[in-house]
Amino acid sequence: MSFADHKKFIDEGDTVILYCTVSKMYAIDVLSQIRNKKGDMIENVFQTDFGALKVKTLIGQQYGSKVELSKGWCFVLQATPELWTQTLPHRTQIIYTPDISMILFQLDIKPGSVVIESGTGSGSLSHYFIRAVKPTGHLHTFDFHEGRTQQARDEFKSHGIDNFVTVYHRDVCELGFKDELNGCADAVFLDLPAPQIAVPHALKALKDSGGRFCSFSPCIEQSQRCCEALALHGFVEIQSMEILQIEDVVKIKTIPVLDLEFVKHKVS
Ligand SMILES: C[S@@+](CC[C@H](N)C(=O)[O-])C[C@H]1O[C@@H](n2cnc3c(N)ncnc32)[C@H](O)[C@@H]1O
Repeated sequence: MSFADHKKFIDEGDTVILYCTVSKMYAIDVLSQIRNKKGDMIENVFQTDFGALKVKTLIGQQYGSKVELSKGWCFVLQATPELWTQTLPHRTQIIYTPDISMILFQLDIKPGSVVIESGTGSGSLSHYFIRAVKPTGHLHTFDFHEGRTQQARDEFKSHGIDNFVTVYHRDVCELGFKDELNGCADAVFLDLPAPQIAVPHALKALKDSGGRFCSFSPCIEQSQRCCEALALHGFVEIQSMEILQIEDVVKIKTIPVLDLEFVKHKVS
């Protein structure tokens, strides 16, 4: 129950982040015991690059504390969507924080929003949608891969955010979104190989009063096909954006300055 609200102390069952270095973080479930391959319950000892941690020692500790590992130390942090994106078990390609911040901004997601998403994938983006729509909004997320939908459901439940999300196992290109969602959505988001096929379904799902649509595409041809489908179905203000993180490079240049005193002297 660690994603739902801000917490001071760690409880058994929380998902926490072990922060060793900026590039070495681990998400772990705080379970005193786990089942081994033989099916027996054994003490849960988590291995990191900086040594082992007896997971039960985390229970009752304050979030943000420094924790001893057998060969070093780390900080134990409360999980956030940003930290989860960096540590989650990948089932698919995922969307990362820089793109996600633009997606949330452009879709105008806020508490109370109803959002439709497909595919769920590894649930990276879903966690941000859920945080943004809480406590009165809802995320409806669709994937045609059954294993991924079940894994996402299990994660949302163990993260204490399952009240704000419904996961559907469904091919949205072939079948569209659920009929009961027609006219319900403030925003539809697609991360699919052929998003243009789902555009008419997205139109049905959006509120009659208007709504926003966004599709994430790793290649320009996909993006072009989607833009064409959007224009065909009457969408307006269609834009393509790319989020690039660029480091500012400061160069020092000396520019010769005109000596006005010298020029004045020469002229007179
Ligand atoms: C790149 S992943 C999505 C990753 C997700 N945005 C994240 O940040 O974790 C794409 C997902 O779309 C699903 N998918 C592809 N075609 C689909 C379709 N027609 N209907 C439903 N899901 C589909 C795949 O199974 C896959 O899980």
